[in-house]
Amino acid sequence: MNRPLAGQTAVVTGGNSGVGRSATEMLLRAGADVTMVCRSRERGERALAEMRDAGIAGGAAEGAEDPNARETGDAAGRPGLVLELADLSRQADVRAAAGRIATRLPAIDILVNNAGISSARRTLSADGFELTFATNHIGHFLLTHLLRERLEAGRGRILNVSSRGHRRGDLRRADLDDIARGRAWNGPLQAYADSKLANILFTFESVRRWGGRGITANAVHPGVLATDIWNKTPWIARLLIRPFTWFMDRPEVGGGAVMNLVGDPAGDTVTGRYFNMNDEETPSAQARDEALAGKLWERSCEWTAWVS
Ligand SMILES: NC(=O)c1ccc[n+]([C@@H]2O[C@H](COP(=O)([O-])OP(=O)(O)OC[C@H]3O[C@@H](n4cnc5c(N)ncnc54)[C@H](OP(=O)(O)O)[C@@H]3O)[C@@H](O)[C@H]2O)c1
Repeated sequence: MNRPLAGQTAVVTGGNSGVGRSATEMLLRAGADVTMVCRSRERGERALAEMRDAGIAGGAAEGAEDPNARETGDAAGRPGLVLELADLSRQADVRAAAGRIATRLPAIDILVNNAGISSARRTLSADGFELTFATNHIGHFLLTHLLRERLEAGRGRILNVSSRGHRRGDLRRADLDDIARGRAWNGPLQAYADSKLANILFTFESVRRWGGRGITANAVHPGVLATDIWNKTPWIARLLIRPFTWFMDRPEVGGGAVMNLVGDPAGDTVTGRYFNMNDEETPSAQARDEALAGKLWERSCEWTAWVS
């Protein structure tokens, strides 16, 4: 069996569902050991058991010390799959999970920042940030910073799952702090688009700041896919979208777009780019605004109390 990622280590957020689940399965099939960062123990353990039962991941290991981690061994030569629990909208969770991951993994080759939501209402996270922005941007910003040294020790390949919806994003429409804290709330679509724009700004700025450390970063729109994300929209939107889900691609199309950017160890020269599925594309003007990216980075450091 061809296993180009054998011996490599990947971390995937939201690995229990949709794009993240598909990418996790593809990474395992390519031989990588995968850590899934999920918010729900029940959904995470179910996904883990399904992949184990399907023979994609190794069997259960005895005596996992950390109650949050459910380790699967590779006694039969199958890659390992570990579940780490963290709600990305809660910075304390992110710090705790990153600490456990960093303790367990000396090096990380691939980080797929995939988890995402579109909160139907203006809701504040436990830390006082608008929930969509907190989950989709701030949580991943913090996780990536906390794992940076491990990424430097590995292949250091970061893939941020954005969306072509970033084109409606507008992070100049108000003060960044007002957007992040939900004071400039302008509906769920705007909040989602803003967070997906932030994903690309973060991608490009991390290449400018960390490129010299051997870290690469790209952003991808994974396709318009029939995943659970649509079931979490307001009921009226769900009703309107339901007929169109028949025409959407399967999550595996998104998993394939992820693998296109992280699955080829020879492809590590590709960095600082945005892809619409498998094709490179020029993102919106705001996504390419270096001053905005720098400002978002500095503010994100403040929001996460990150001192570099
Ligand atoms: N589907 C599309 O058409 C589409 C299009 C463009 C971009 N995207 C992007 O693709 C990514 C994956 O979405 P998907 O379509 O695969 O949707 P999905 O099936 O709903 O998967 C989203 C994943 O993120 C997890 N998640 C949500 N909030 C979280 C939190 N606070 N902490 C930790 N994990 C959290 C979910 O966990 P639970 O299962 O516990 O909810 C789930 O595992 C997202 O970034 C989305 O913006 C999707």
